[in-house]
Order: sequence, then C-alpha cells, then structure tokens
Amino acid sequence: MFEKSRKLLDDYAGFLYPVLDFCETVTVRGEGCYVWDADGNKILDLNSGQFCSVFGHSDPQVAETVYKTALKIQDTNTAALSEEVLFAAKRIHDICPEMNARSFFLSTGAEANECCLRYARHLNGGKPGVISFDNGYHGLTHGTKSHSTGRRHVNPPLNFAYVTRVPRMYNETDLTDRQIDEYIEEFRNIVHANAGNIAIAIFEPVVSSGGMYIPSRRYFKKIREICTEYNIFLAFDECQTGFGRTGTWFYYQQLECTPDFLVCAKGIGLGYPVSVVIFNGNTFSNPTSDLQHFCSHQNDPFAGALVSHGIDTIEKNNLMEHIGKMGVYLLDSLKNISSRHVFVQNPRGVGLMCAFDIGADQSDIAAQGILFCKRALENNIMLQPCNGGKTIRLLPSYCVTENDIDFLCLRLKQVLKKYY
Ligand SMILES: Cc1ncc(COP(=O)(O)O)c(C=O)c1O
Repeated sequence: MFEKSRKLLDDYAGFLYPVLDFCETVTVRGEGCYVWDADGNKILDLNSGQFCSVFGHSDPQVAETVYKTALKIQDTNTAALSEEVLFAAKRIHDICPEMNARSFFLSTGAEANECCLRYARHLNGGKPGVISFDNGYHGLTHGTKSHSTGRRHVNPPLNFAYVTRVPRMYNETDLTDRQIDEYIEEFRNIVHANAGNIAIAIFEPVVSSGGMYIPSRRYFKKIREICTEYNIFLAFDECQTGFGRTGTWFYYQQLECTPDFLVCAKGIGLGYPVSVVIFNGNTFSNPTSDLQHFCSHQNDPFAGALVSHGIDTIEKNNLMEHIGKMGVYLLDSLKNISSRHVFVQNPRGVGLMCAFDIGADQSDIAAQGILFCKRALENNIMLQPCNGGKTIRLLPSYCVTENDIDFLCLRLKQVLKKYY
C-alpha cells in the first residue's frame, strides 16, 4: 500500500535529521479534510495537519490570500506596520470584546507563549515565577517546556516553575464540587506560599496533549479570583482551543472567565505559521513600549491578511454553527462506538476537539498507541496518539461533514476488528 512512499523515504529521508519517527507515508497533496500520499492513497486527516489547516488542506481562498498579500508586500521592517496588521488587530479586538484586545502577531505557539511570559514578568514587577498544570503543554522552547508536561527533561531546569495538578475531568459533572475544591485549594496553597515570586499562571483551558482534560467553569472561576487576589496574571494558552475550534471564537468565552493574556496559534494561521499574544486592554490599560520585542517575523503582513480572511470566512459561512453541529455528531459517533468496543474509552470533547482513550495494555501503552495509529493509516484514516500513547485526539478541519465522520467510524470499526 505504501511502496512509493517507502522508496521516497529510503532514498531521501536520510538527508533529514530524525527528530521524530516519521510517518510511513509521504504526503503529496491535500484537499479539504483529505490528503493523498505518493501511492495515491486518499487518507482522511483527522488532525487538520497539525491542527492548523482549519479550513481544510490547500483551501483556494487561503492560498489566494497568501499569494495576493505576497505580491503586494512580503516583509516589513520590524517597526513598520502594514495595513494588513492594523486591520487584523481591530478584527481580533472585535471578536473578543471581553479582552479589549491589544494584539501582537508572531509565528508559532511556543514563541507566543514565551513572549507572553516575558511580558508578564516585566509587567508584574519583575517577579520571576510561573505556575502551570502538571499535564499542560505550551511548547518546546526552554521556557515553555519548563512549564509543560515534559518539564523533568529540561536541562538545566528552570527556577521558579511551580506546578499544580489539572482537575482530571472529561466534562462538567465528572468530579463533585468537593473534589474540584481540592484542586482549587492546591492551587491556592502554592500561590499563597509563593505569591511574591509568581508573575503568572498559564493554563490550557482544555488540556489537550496531556490527556484532553476539560476542567469545569467552577474551577476556572475560582482560579481567576485567586489570581486577582494575589496579583498574579492569568494566561490562557488557546493555541488549540482558539479561533473557533470549540464553537466560540475562544474557549474562555464559554468559561465566563476572562484572562489577562490570551495566546492563540495553529488554526489562526489557516495552515501557515501565525500566532498572536492578546493583552487584556482592561488589565493593561496604559500600555507602554518600555519592554521592546524584536524578531524577524513579528506583525507580518501575511499573518494579518490570514487572520482577517479567517474571521471573514467564519462569519460569512456561519462556520461556528457548523463546528458545533459536527462536534456533537463526532462525539455521538465516538460514544456509539465506545458503547460496543471496550477499546474506545472515555469519548469526550468540546466542539471539534474530541478524544478517546485506548483500552489497551497500559504497561505497553506508548507502543500500543503507535500501533493503533499505524493500523488506522492502513485503513485510510490519519490519527495521532498523545498522552504517552494513551489518548487519541481528533481535531478535524472545520469543513468536515457527516459523511467524513461516517467514513471515520466505518474505518475505525475495521481497525477495531484487529483487537477482538
Ligand atoms: C496548547 C499548545 N500550546 C502551545 C503549543 C506549541 O505550539 P508550536 O508547536 O506552534 O510552537 C502547542 C502545540 O501543540 C499546543 O498544543
């Protein structure tokens, strides 16, 4: 099935540094929710690239936006703003009115999170500390990794990196109020003991890579109160949850809990490297440029053009409603499969951000996760394991249809036959 891909990999992959175990197919093109490999196999991509191509692969209008912008202006002096960036900042302001947004465009999620932490420390009197979830993920730079699930591998370790446990819940009612209060108290105790050192708490509001946990409104409402009480900024890393993925522009809008910083990446670039740090204009009501930030690709015109195009398209096509409907259809379909196959456990999700755990031998779970996804690929569905192999995430493009989800289920059932 993958002969041509294998030959290409044999001939050329050796020229790349093997930073990870590459997939066994070589992708040659994409359209909508599907990609085609070198052997002509049509594969349903359940991760919209790496959660970035939210309008589907090679969307003609996205391509045209990039092309037209490139013909007009490709790069500006770091201090020179373009119309594209000015207009996009206003568009962002208008889709998250609670933030009274002041935006700063960058390229990747890790870069934007680093920038957020840099400004938080500066704006919070130089306090060095950051508190984050044990199972969160914010990137792989030295700083962001120090506040992510792989922190124990950071060398040298970062000081003033505090950790609190994410509430292990898959929906609002998974834990009792009393159990949630224990998690809140844990956070409060760490903050109380170290408030003088902690500048900011940074959380994914839905903890994706670390197990697709969905902490409740009650949890975040209290966290917000504690941050305010102890003069600690609250940042939501919405690199995955942002830009419509969960059925609202940003997930904080469903939590009724407004952060001081909001970081968004991935989907906001429609398949291109765009991220944004949104400063809350009510928290930072008198911004100054006394801490300056320079990098080659900040406030790039193509980033601005893509963000505005993304907002226009979501609004014009009422995509938020489609995301909500397809999210329910996907989750119901997974629940249906789960009710018949013990291998598919704990289906859960918000909008088009869903997951299930695999009911395999937990002592060998990393290998089991890889094997499951390999078998899925042989059945024309592209999935990725996370959470050490235990969890499979599904974040399809916003153009996914019921037919695509039915195809997923059909092929998933084929794969599951191997397990009985
Ligand atoms: C929640 C979250 N934050 C940050 C990042 C890092 O983004 P990037 O890989 O673009 O640096 C990711 C990437 O998966 C992510 O899921």
